Amino acid sequence: MDYKDQLRKVLSSETIKTRVCELGEQISKDYEGRPLVIIGILNGAFIFMADLIRHIKNPLQIDFVRLASYGSQAKSSGHISFTKDIEIDIKDKDVLVVEDIVDTGYTLKYLKEVLNLHNPASIRICCLIDKKERRKVSVEVDYVGFDIPSGFLVGYGLDFNENYRGLPGVYHLNPVYKPEGFMPSDR
Ligand code: IMP
Ligand code: MG
Repeated sequence: MDYKDQLRKVLSSETIKTRVCELGEQISKDYEGRPLVIIGILNGAFIFMADLIRHIKNPLQIDFVRLASYGSQAKSSGHISFTKDIEIDIKDKDVLVVEDIVDTGYTLKYLKEVLNLHNPASIRICCLIDKKERRKVSVEVDYVGFDIPSGFLVGYGLDFNENYRGLPGVYHLNPVYKPEGFMPSDR
């Protein structure tokens, strides 16, 4: 079966590029040259963060966290723990958290609460995609790339069982499809 039958493009790489550039310019303007600590949430945010920081003009440090949530990936639960914590000191620093998708909001609510314990000067959140209709808990997202209300998305860092992260665009994945043993070759 051709992978193109299973993936429907929702964001082209050109569309993403334009928006990521706009976000970087907005962030640079809002922080007015102040130094920033950018914290990416692994694994999904790695491509978005790599592109975004090249459009941010402020001096910056970067770090990553990795969070595990119990339950399957397609069905978030409220139980979250760190599998990798931050390694740099964020006390009195302006922190920008970079996330791929905000879905139920559990992940970011938890992360924001934990990061606040380190007494940063501020914390803001930037996500590539907001599925805000699916929110279970309220969390303020300061910078949003795209609002996409529904569907399971892959590509540009987003995965299904670790597949598809390298696709340059974002695609809806047909939920009945099981990609084990299969990788798209035509990108
Ligand atoms: P939540 O906001 O705590 O529900 O979790 C959001 C996390 O679930 C994101 O960091 C993604 O890793 C993952 N996620 C949610 N929706 C999707 C999707 O459509 N594709 C890939 N990962 C998703
Ligand atoms: Mg994630």
